Amino acid sequence: DANDIEKGTYPHFMLKEIDEQPFVMRKIIREYQTENNELKLDQNIRQAMNSCDRIYIIAAGTSYHAGLVGKEFIEKLANVPVEVHIASEFSYNMPLLSEKPLFIFISQSGETADSRAVLVKIKEMGHPALTITNVPGSTLSREADYTLNLYAGPEIAVASTKAYTAQIAVLAILAVDTAKTKGLPLDFDPMQELAIVANAMEVLTDQKEAIEDLARKYLHTARNAFFIGRSVDYHVCLEAALKLKEISYIQAEGFAGGELKHGTIALIEEGTPVIAIATQENVNYSIRGNVQEVVARGANDMVISMKGLERDTDAFVIPHVHELLTPLVSVVPLQLLSYYAALHRDCDVDKPRNLAKSVTVE
Ligand code: G6P
Repeated sequence: DANDIEKGTYPHFMLKEIDEQPFVMRKIIREYQTENNELKLDQNIRQAMNSCDRIYIIAAGTSYHAGLVGKEFIEKLANVPVEVHIASEFSYNMPLLSEKPLFIFISQSGETADSRAVLVKIKEMGHPALTITNVPGSTLSREADYTLNLYAGPEIAVASTKAYTAQIAVLAILAVDTAKTKGLPLDFDPMQELAIVANAMEVLTDQKEAIEDLARKYLHTARNAFFIGRSVDYHVCLEAALKLKEISYIQAEGFAGGELKHGTIALIEEGTPVIAIATQENVNYSIRGNVQEVVARGANDMVISMKGLERDTDAFVIPHVHELLTPLVSVVPLQLLSYYAALHRDCDVDKPRNLAKSVTVE
């Protein structure tokens, strides 16, 4: 059928979409740059970013996880406070808003009903809204004041991969652009760093066999799996766990490394897979400590670290990229890990049970 043609030589859309990520990064670099290598963004969006006193990011699922990473960029680079909210929670339990809020809706499809419910409410209240989406003509795009396009191309697999990394890249560009218009100091060239990310992603998508081996070794018969990380690695853990749950049906959770001892560590048994992400220098020592704690209780540990921070016993090392942008790269082996875990467990990778690509009911 038509789907088989679009898939080309790939067995699944998910694998194809994982592989497309370096190209999407390069596309985003091109689309958000002028001929003079300046950042290209609508002046109205610049103005909205500059005149707000707080940003409220609203999203669901994987897009929510991208929002958590986006908060880091916007707060650290552009110096604007950011709250990230699950759309379905926000609509029934609205937090106290600041005086001049700006709402950012992140949605691959632009059709998620939970997010739309929030958009309708905040428009009634008269607040400005920016939608970051892969589908420019979508409902969330049409009904918001401004739109930023992800340029990821159609995402068919239910489990989102390339939209997540595209969302993070666009949020990084938005944050850098805001920092620049505000005249805040910036010690790196965002487009150059994203180009390094694209190359790193390519290195990783060329290492499928190694990751397939890890999936076989750690997840083939696992009942559950835990992802641990600190700081921005923790956000990636949440996404990695969601990916694994969605397509392999392994019960998976992402935890903040330091929170383990406050309860979760009770779940560790002999052989429990614990996947740790270590890409941040300032927490490298402490996450390593957390790994030792779970290993002492029998966990089967798999550390995914970044070049420069690695230790001999790490299972997998990703190339070095700018420390703010590591989620774009660390997520790739984790997407592949979920893919191969699901594949070897005979799951329907592209169409997992009970899930829809876009949920248009509240
Ligand atoms: C559904 C999909 C998820 C997605 C979420 C939000 O639940 O299965 O993969 O992350 O919706 O979708 P959106 O299109 O708003 O990003």
